[in-house]
Amino acid sequence: MNEKKGEVILIVDDDPYTLESISSLLNEHGYSVVACGNAADAMAKIQKNRIDIVLTDIRMPVVSGIELLEKIHSFNSEIPVILITAYAELDMAIDAIRRGAFDFITKPYSPEYLVHAVERAIEHNRYVRLEKEFKCMLQDSVKEKTEKLNEIEVLAAGIAHEIRNPIGNVKAAAQLCFKKYDPDERLRTYLKIIIKNTEKVNRVIKDLLNLAKPHKALFKRGSIDKVINNLCDLVKAKCSKQKVLLIKRSSRRLPEISLDERLLEEAFLNLILNALDAMPKGGRLAITTYYDYNAREIVISFIDSGSGISEDNQGRIFYPFFTTKKNGTGLGLSLALQIIELHKGKIHIESKLDYGTEVTVRLPAYKG
Ligand SMILES: Nc1ncnc2c1ncn2[C@@H]1O[C@H](COP(=O)(O)OP(=O)(O)OP(=O)(O)O)[C@@H](O)[C@H]1O
Ligand SMILES: [Mg+2]
Repeated sequence: MNEKKGEVILIVDDDPYTLESISSLLNEHGYSVVACGNAADAMAKIQKNRIDIVLTDIRMPVVSGIELLEKIHSFNSEIPVILITAYAELDMAIDAIRRGAFDFITKPYSPEYLVHAVERAIEHNRYVRLEKEFKCMLQDSVKEKTEKLNEIEVLAAGIAHEIRNPIGNVKAAAQLCFKKYDPDERLRTYLKIIIKNTEKVNRVIKDLLNLAKPHKALFKRGSIDKVINNLCDLVKAKCSKQKVLLIKRSSRRLPEISLDERLLEEAFLNLILNALDAMPKGGRLAITTYYDYNAREIVISFIDSGSGISEDNQGRIFYPFFTTKKNGTGLGLSLALQIIELHKGKIHIESKLDYGTEVTVRLPAYKG
């Protein structure tokens, strides 16, 4: 006998000889078998025991195999039912398949075919089970993520309340000292440190609040070029001060997209500032936009000739609070990613250490 398998198969046939022969065949293949001579017994067994697959004769007195199939499926639609039929009843068997039978085997049955049909039904059950488990896992992970987000939201609101005001007071007091007491050079340096750090704390709180409440987007139909032009105007002075050559290339007639200008500006500004941070001694930043006709997406790329990102760090740059900078909060890319995903877009980063970084953002074109 083969190794014992876990599945339980119910066989229903009013002919004791067929019952006996199929039972021993399946027993030999290691299956547990429950045998019944009529549909009523079969239903009682299905309702009380674990049954994985049903094999039933189609022609039985009182309740036929097809009626049994319907009864089984109104009790549990997931149990595969295989019908055993004579050649003459093929039309009936085909009709049964339409009503949800898993398969049919003809009498006199071939043992190989019967075992093969059972194996296919088992495979089907396994697939259904996996699909269910996967759906549960997915639901759990969505639930977990939502709970996490809510936790961050509550935490951020708490921080904003408990820290923002005292920090604001510290900054105001330091500024007051500056104005009122005409501090000497050393004291001025300390006061500047205090003010700079209060500003950093405020920035962390602002980013954290943004990260926790990203959903207040106001989508309008608009142009990505406008966003890029505004940003270039904004960073022009910083670029020339840092000796970074800013190059802007844009295809004509870019389709419009559905966007929240303010949010996208914030996302792209983070990408531009990262590029500038990576080029403290100057370099080149090229911002290119074009339309990918096949994907129907606007592509925006930011290519810098900066320090690049090590392979180790490339897997971590989107983690909140991951930073390699002395004054970084490590929230810039998390925010950018969140905003881009809110626009149903994608972001991809390619980088080579000591060579530069290319950040590519793809946003879907407006569907009118
Ligand atoms: N263009 C780039 N070139 C080199 N390194 C980059 C680039 N963009 C991102 N990085 C790396 O990814 C890290 C995370 O970036 P992110 O914008 O999230 O935070 P940050 O810039 O450190 O801080 P901030 O919150 O102030 O933006 C950076 O510290 C840096 O190491
Ligand atoms: Mg940054």
